[in-house]
Amino acid sequence: MQTVRSLVFPRWSSDVRLDGKTAIVTGANTGIGKETARDLARRGARVILACRDMAKGELVVQEILSEVPLAKVVARQLDLSDTNSICQFAENIYNTEKALHFLINNAGVAMCPYSTTADGYEMQFGVNHLGHFFLTFLLLDLLKHSAPSRVINLSSAAHAMGRINFEDLASLKDYHSVKAYAQSKLANVLFTREMAKRTEVMGVTVYAVDPGMVSTDVLRHFGRPLQEMVRRFNCLLKSAADGASTTMYCVVTAEQDLSTGGYYSNCKRAECSRAGQDDGTALKLWAMSCHLLGIRWR
Ligand SMILES: NC(=O)c1ccc[n+]([C@@H]2O[C@H](COP(=O)([O-])OP(=O)(O)OC[C@H]3O[C@@H](n4cnc5c(N)ncnc54)[C@H](OP(=O)(O)O)[C@@H]3O)[C@@H](O)[C@H]2O)c1
Repeated sequence: MQTVRSLVFPRWSSDVRLDGKTAIVTGANTGIGKETARDLARRGARVILACRDMAKGELVVQEILSEVPLAKVVARQLDLSDTNSICQFAENIYNTEKALHFLINNAGVAMCPYSTTADGYEMQFGVNHLGHFFLTFLLLDLLKHSAPSRVINLSSAAHAMGRINFEDLASLKDYHSVKAYAQSKLANVLFTREMAKRTEVMGVTVYAVDPGMVSTDVLRHFGRPLQEMVRRFNCLLKSAADGASTTMYCVVTAEQDLSTGGYYSNCKRAECSRAGQDDGTALKLWAMSCHLLGIRWR
């Protein structure tokens, strides 16, 4: 399988070390997040696995330690569907960490049946966009203090099918799981674009990443037949480790060779959709996100 994959997806590699750096990876207990955490740990970074299920998080800590015995990895509880949990996580980080160089907003829920977060937002918009928006807002002082620092937002090529439905952000009138996912992934691109303008002067840069089509549990909400079909073509999907490559590219590449606010795919700068380049929508989404969360982020 790996041989077929290596023919389809040429491998990217870098030997840059990250000793003395601290990173947070959300959704690090499985899939792309877990492989991102593993790669960061191998490079010597201190890695905080932000997981909603601590038992799963601790298992990954043990797995990484068995491979890299001196790894500096810890698991911390974070449920991005609950603003109280996000506040507690951020408070814990301020109490325990002196610096934060990389915030990797990786966690995601994809194409689930309709449900809402603890605060009443549609789940995919709530977790994939709002939860990470709020987390980044709360951790911004630490990122500024640790500058140069970077935020990496996991988006998807599916953002190109997205539209921000400002009239019904909670999807109360009409819910379609694929549309809601695409909206949330477009929100990741627009958030990246708008945040870059505000934080570049502070030394905090931000990148949106499309990991490609990766063999993970991301399709857990799909019906059996569709999951079966995807499994049949598994060799055409990236492994989770390869899925982490573009994230790691944005972590280790020299700042002058990256473009803050940009969209990256297959370990290089890529063009996002026209909707993803719409500064008016990005600004409106920013204002709406602040309004929904009751925060002021200028
Ligand atoms: N796989 C792909 O083909 C693909 C393609 C494009 C973009 N992406 C994006 O890449 C990112 C990683 O995806 P993946 O493929 O690795 O998916 P995955 O295997 O399903 O992992 C998703 C991670 O997010 C966590 N998560 C979900 N809801 C959460 C919440 N409320 N609070 C905290 N963590 C939560 C999950 O935790 P639990 O284990 O507790 O559920 C899990 O750790 C996502 O943002 C996804 O949209 C993936």
